[in-house]
Amino acid sequence: MDGTSFFKLMGLENEKLLTFIGEWVEICNPDSVFMCNDSEEDAEFVRRKALEKREELPLAKSEQTIHYDGYGDQGRAPGATKLMIAKERIAEMGGLPCIEHNEGLAEIKKIASGIMRGKEAIVKLFCECPTLSKFSIGCAQLTDSYYVAHAEDMLYRRGYEQFRNMKPEEKDNFFCFCHSAGRLDERGCSIDLDKRRIYQDLETFSVYSLNNQYAGNSVGLKKQAMRLAIRKSGSEHWLCEHMFLMGCQNHEKQRVTYFCGAYPSACGKTSTAMLPGEKIVGDDIAYFRNVAGEFRAANVERGIFGIIKDVNAKDDPVIFKTLMEPRETIFSNVLTGPDNDPYWLGMEVETPTTGSNHSGPGWYVGKKDSDGNVIPLAHPNARYTIRLQYLENLDPAWDDKQGVVVGGIIYGGRDGDTSVPVEESFNWEDGIITKACTLESETTSATIGKEGVRMPQPMANLDFLSYPIGRYVLNNINFVKDIKKVPKIFAMNYFLRGPDNKFCTGKLAKKVWLHWAEARVHNEVGALETPTGLIPKYENLKPLFNSLLGENYQKQDYEYQFSFRCDAWIAKLQRSTAFFQKNCPGTPEKVYRSWTTTAEKIKTAKQKYGDIIPPGKYQA
Ligand code: GTP
Ligand code: MN
Repeated sequence: MDGTSFFKLMGLENEKLLTFIGEWVEICNPDSVFMCNDSEEDAEFVRRKALEKREELPLAKSEQTIHYDGYGDQGRAPGATKLMIAKERIAEMGGLPCIEHNEGLAEIKKIASGIMRGKEAIVKLFCECPTLSKFSIGCAQLTDSYYVAHAEDMLYRRGYEQFRNMKPEEKDNFFCFCHSAGRLDERGCSIDLDKRRIYQDLETFSVYSLNNQYAGNSVGLKKQAMRLAIRKSGSEHWLCEHMFLMGCQNHEKQRVTYFCGAYPSACGKTSTAMLPGEKIVGDDIAYFRNVAGEFRAANVERGIFGIIKDVNAKDDPVIFKTLMEPRETIFSNVLTGPDNDPYWLGMEVETPTTGSNHSGPGWYVGKKDSDGNVIPLAHPNARYTIRLQYLENLDPAWDDKQGVVVGGIIYGGRDGDTSVPVEESFNWEDGIITKACTLESETTSATIGKEGVRMPQPMANLDFLSYPIGRYVLNNINFVKDIKKVPKIFAMNYFLRGPDNKFCTGKLAKKVWLHWAEARVHNEVGALETPTGLIPKYENLKPLFNSLLGENYQKQDYEYQFSFRCDAWIAKLQRSTAFFQKNCPGTPEKVYRSWTTTAEKIKTAKQKYGDIIPPGKYQA
């Protein structure tokens, strides 16, 4: 570390930070260490180095770059991801993937030993949520990847000043991340994927992420910090949720109503938060706090790491336009065409037949991998990284230190045959139990006509939980205890299929569901009851389809989409019960009781009205 870097580090007068950096630099043994502060100059240094080391390559449009992760490193790696926790606490963790703390640490230290040799390490400080606010959590990242440091700079608020302003008693209250991409091949991709480890140390609130580059694993502040934050929130009476945060714009009434939404991966968070005509605050992770009796949420991030597949001018006009601008954007794992522009699946433009992609240079249509599978032009999980501040639809309150007051919460899954497009819960607790805990998603299969495999996705947060789900559910239920105006809970499903097995609704129909929910939050429209909640009336949806989308919503489509499906719902509740009984010890009895009561209610309804109950027929 040269004098300037050392001066920046020492200027923080932070024991814990010094110890963390000192210890892991000694273990990983980089040739040098560069310490960043919040200056533009240091951010520029990282950007330049990423290009120099070819971790990112320049694209045709200025400031756009492409980064490739290895062919086997294209997504989160659940098998290599574990929570490190003291031996005596493992038993209480239920079915969560854990490793005993000492054993995990020894394994990490062994793999990390000398892993950064020949490279420079970067130390960069960040802040989750707006800086110097009650939502803020400081984060220290040590990494040997300029790409990771660059992506993090786009996705998170810089935190050097946050650390400098820490009160003495707060100086050990932050998260630490040590990442190394490990040995690299000639394309700069991690070689030793068999030694890929992503361990979250719940005893020290640190994360060690080794031999990988895919941002969902390597970028400490994203899904890694999320696990730490969930753990921390669990004992501090706040919540960390896998949710977007957006402002629904009601121009007629001249008001903005904020919604948060939890959807499992690839089920519509980003697409909802980026709906044309609405305002985005965040698209992935939100913290909730009770601030003087108000339910407030803040966006943890200041950028988007979004799925690029199917982003096109028609379905996602706002993102598409942004990605066409000559502005700082990192594309990952898309095709670089002969014109040096990026191309991806579902882009709806003519795409080149040759280029470079996640499988390497020299891709051509029909190229196969070593297993004989045809390699698509881009990976289905290819992504873009952008800064929120570039977006014309960024909400003015996105960086408010107080967060924003939440009017509604949405839970959404990928469900071909059970849930209606939008349904309001009877109340908060019922929303958590009947809607959030029963969330499922179908694995996305490209095979036409073939139904996806249904996976339980309680609260859309299962993959990131770091304390037992039973207690987490209870914390969610109890969170609103002292809240004056409790948000309404809605369930949404964009993926209901018709008798022809095609999706019933277009991608922008979610705008109508959202605006109906907005009107419900303000008690301005009525609703029809079903055994599981409250659905819209046709006469309230029709004008919304017309005014928001210019579409003529047909009564027969409404009847199909909003019919209550008794058998399917009973089966869904049975699946949830079985899953929780097997995997979620400590689930409060009232969750099971409530599911039993609801199932009974549905059975009675079925006897009276038949399996499929058209909207409006049911009466409790
Ligand atoms: P992560 O970033 O992985 O957490 O996923 P996400 O929840 O942000 O998902 P995203 O909004 O990026 O959408 C995932 C996929 O669902 C994309 O391929 C979208 O095109 C598709 N999708 C989103 N909304 C709709 C919709 O209303 N209808 C249909 N049929 N597909 C949709
Ligand atoms: Mn997303």
